[in-house]
Amino acid sequence: MNHKIRVGIIGAGTIGKVHASYFQQQPDTEVAAIADVQLAAARLVAEQYRIATVHESIDALLQDKQIDAVVIAVPNLFHEALVIQALHEGKHVLIEKPLAIDLASARNIVKAQKESGKVVMIPHQLRWDAASMAVKEQSAKGTLGQIYYAKTGWFRRKNIPGWGSWFTQQKMSGGGPLIDVGVHMLDLAIYLMGNPKPVSVFAAAYSEFGEKKKGIGTWGTPNWNGSFDVEDLASAMIRFDNGATLQLEVSWAAHTVAENNGSFLHLMGSEGGAAIQGDSGKFLLEQFNRTGDIDITTSPGAEDPRSLMIRHFTDCIQQNAEPITNAYSGFVNMAIIEAIYESAREGKLALVDLGGVEG
Ligand SMILES: NC(=O)c1ccc[n+]([C@@H]2O[C@H](COP(=O)([O-])OP(=O)(O)OC[C@H]3O[C@@H](n4cnc5c(N)ncnc54)[C@H](O)[C@@H]3O)[C@@H](O)[C@H]2O)c1
Repeated sequence: MNHKIRVGIIGAGTIGKVHASYFQQQPDTEVAAIADVQLAAARLVAEQYRIATVHESIDALLQDKQIDAVVIAVPNLFHEALVIQALHEGKHVLIEKPLAIDLASARNIVKAQKESGKVVMIPHQLRWDAASMAVKEQSAKGTLGQIYYAKTGWFRRKNIPGWGSWFTQQKMSGGGPLIDVGVHMLDLAIYLMGNPKPVSVFAAAYSEFGEKKKGIGTWGTPNWNGSFDVEDLASAMIRFDNGATLQLEVSWAAHTVAENNGSFLHLMGSEGGAAIQGDSGKFLLEQFNRTGDIDITTSPGAEDPRSLMIRHFTDCIQQNAEPITNAYSGFVNMAIIEAIYESAREGKLALVDLGGVEG
């Protein structure tokens, strides 16, 4: 490509704006167009981020021959249809997490991506945090030995997003904190564990706050005429084919402590461990009969994780390469999430269904 990659943004909401800002700042991308079902919202974001074209419909943006790649930042219910339409129009796609509202939709996206040969990437920005990259480097080299147990999660004490909006309606979102923030931590943990194949899960999910209009946070705009029919806390034990297990715990609201932003990840390996809390981390070792911690420090002036993530997307487009957060990784995450909801509903172990597509 001998010009800047021309990006179109679909969805002028909270995260659509973040993408508009970052893509405008990168040297090899420009945001050329935007569209939203709420035209006024698209116009406002276009003005704020100097986006030349506001399309009057999503179809018009997808058919715009000037556009090389699209960012899809809309409620989860619409992910599948928009990704597949974008691929048919020959666009590369950055699709917000979760890849899709459910496993069947995720499977359809993987198939469409394979047929198109275009890049489909999920912006799981935590993979580009300095601590995550340092841990990945060591776990990939084998420094931690065999990672046999991991524990991750994201506890929010009082942070239900947009009560009554699409976020809290099952038919629009597919679920609560598990599919919202849990998917980020699940993705990161599996990546740092070396992508073992998930086999089964045993899980529980609860709704103690949302239905009582408690636990309300500041993210998103509430709609008090809307409804809440998703979980506000979920917990799962995930078993992999190499014998390793992963404990995942997430909440939007719970009577618990949620320090350092509430997110955490612990990897326990036969030769060493690693712990990440928020954006800081450390390695944990035993040597000369002594325990030892090594802090993971971020070098001053280190590049912003979101900039690094966008560079990975553009590199994959320019080099026709597979992103580390490709559609298949999103499909695996969705297969686990679907098994977690099944296990929580049925009260028994559920198998992870990876059938129907090749990795
Ligand atoms: N990576 C992250 O950390 C992160 C953070 C927040 C949200 N997200 C994901 O981004 C997506 C959007 O979340 P948000 O917080 O920006 O939501 P939002 O409600 O703030 O914005 C969604 C926007 O999509 C528009 N929209 C709705 N249906 C549409 C359609 N069919 N076609 C085009 N536009 C449509 C709405 O008008 C709205 O402007 C979700 O999938 C969410 O899970 C990711």
